[in-house]
Amino acid sequence: MKKMTSRELRDSYLEFFKSKGHAVIPSASLIPENDPSVLFTTAGMHPLVPYLLGQKHPAGKRLCDVQKCVRTGDIDEVGDATHCTFFEMLGNWSLGDYFREESIEFSFEFLTKVLEIPTEKIAVSVFAGDEDCERDEIAAKKWNELGIAKDKIFYLPKENNWWYAGPTGPCGSDTEIFIDTGKEPCGEDCSPACDCGKYVEIWNNVFMQFNRDKEGNFQPLAQKNVDTGMGLERTICMLNGYQSVYETDLFADVIAKISSLCGKEYGKGEEETRAMRIIADHMRTATFMIGDEKGIVPSNVDQGYVLRRLLRRSVRFARQLGMDSKELVTIAEMFIDKYCDIYTELADNRDKVLTEIAKEEEKFGKTLENGIKEIEKVLKFVQNGMLNGKTAFRLYDTYGFPIEMTQEICKEKGFGVDIEGYHNAFAEHQKKSQAGAEQKFKGGLADSGEQTTYLHTATHLMLAGLKKVLGRDDIEQKGSNITAERLRFDFNFERPLTEEEKKGVEKFVNDAIARDIPVVCEEMPIEKAREINAVGVFGSRYGEVVKVYTIGDVDCQICGGPHAERTGLLGEFKIVKEQSSSAGIRRIKAVIDTTKAK
Ligand code: SER
Repeated sequence: MKKMTSRELRDSYLEFFKSKGHAVIPSASLIPENDPSVLFTTAGMHPLVPYLLGQKHPAGKRLCDVQKCVRTGDIDEVGDATHCTFFEMLGNWSLGDYFREESIEFSFEFLTKVLEIPTEKIAVSVFAGDEDCERDEIAAKKWNELGIAKDKIFYLPKENNWWYAGPTGPCGSDTEIFIDTGKEPCGEDCSPACDCGKYVEIWNNVFMQFNRDKEGNFQPLAQKNVDTGMGLERTICMLNGYQSVYETDLFADVIAKISSLCGKEYGKGEEETRAMRIIADHMRTATFMIGDEKGIVPSNVDQGYVLRRLLRRSVRFARQLGMDSKELVTIAEMFIDKYCDIYTELADNRDKVLTEIAKEEEKFGKTLENGIKEIEKVLKFVQNGMLNGKTAFRLYDTYGFPIEMTQEICKEKGFGVDIEGYHNAFAEHQKKSQAGAEQKFKGGLADSGEQTTYLHTATHLMLAGLKKVLGRDDIEQKGSNITAERLRFDFNFERPLTEEEKKGVEKFVNDAIARDIPVVCEEMPIEKAREINAVGVFGSRYGEVVKVYTIGDVDCQICGGPHAERTGLLGEFKIVKEQSSSAGIRRIKAVIDTTKAK
């Protein structure tokens, strides 16, 4: 096998597919726009869904890229040899061009000629067939012709050999490619489907020829596509004969730094090694999340909550190792330096990444030890092996412990957590604060839920206003964050807005408010939304049916909601700040005054 660095693998992959007529496209953002069904981009194909469904891609029918991905479903596995919450996926696509056989030929050639993997080290799985799709004898035959022995070709069912983009959308059977590590089989049934470690998956070629509808039926797609994904970290690890991804050039220096910061040897104690790996993994993911072109910051909901969990978990493991958790910023800096020539957004957002991490460390660092003491104190009196829900909620509310962290700490000590009790305590608390907000409402203030909803509607009106006033139809949302106090909206524009333009946008929004237009929500197939020209980033969607919010003749957008019932409720709209967010991106902060509502 050819020993390669990560850079060499990225370059040779793209070079190879370029030589096979593929256009190289850039990585999309980690944060899908207007897509309520996933928080992060989890595979190279996500941003390409409209094209897999038949829309024409401007770069052609053969594409390849290196895509930033985040998957946090396996977060508990992080710390082992191969699971990472962030990874880069090398991918090549055929949009109604080549299909199974050619795709397998490309993969085989790349693996054996460029990566110099001996044929006998390759094992593959193919689809075993069922009532939805035939047994994939074509793929099996092709692999065999190319030299893969029959006993290295495994027929596996849907459970293993079918790729779904989401609950609905393009999907199909796949053929997965594994490196046979040479370990003894774990038993007679040993196959790539088991997790004994004999076979490590490095590449997946999906033959996307179906669209799964809402009823779960598989409808043939208008075109047959190929969607492949190869894990960069794992492949580097296999090629170099490393024991884990942490030995690759993507991590090795970071691990050495963590080891020196805590004064502990990497690879010695199992727990300590795991903790060092978790810190390295989580800090890399956090760096990419904050430093993304649509970067996020820690919060208590959605993507921000996932980020918060990663950062707080890192703080905990750092302290556990005896490392000053303020040094997490140094680790993030190492990742920025390492990746910023490929992912230039990290360089653009360097200060933001470092500041946000420092802020979160500061916030959580103060309460962490007290929270742990509290857990230890309470656990002494626990009778049924379960930490009660109220305490778990107090740990969240007072000490900032994400519930998953409380569960993890309790588990380490041999206890469970009463999750239902926790959710009840949470709901109880929300009810109380809601009641408090309603009280305030009587005194002339809207409650926070309403305020946020109205600001959301104001955001839609404002985007329409920006397009109109600036005379630019290509202006689109690059990021949006709404709290009860204000909206914050990022959009593509290359210079500051003039006073006149700002006033123009305000007037546009306030005119729409004055007309008290009803806001209408309709569910419709994505195709129809496209037909009626609803605003939306089709490049990152994959849901079949979408919600479209229409505000009279002013605006029509694909959006998850919620919105005000009518524009009059917004009262008065005002821009409070307009500034640069990053290169070519402007940021507006705006407020509404609902007391002015008629
Ligand atoms: N979408 C498939 C995967 O993520 C192939 O890229 O495995």
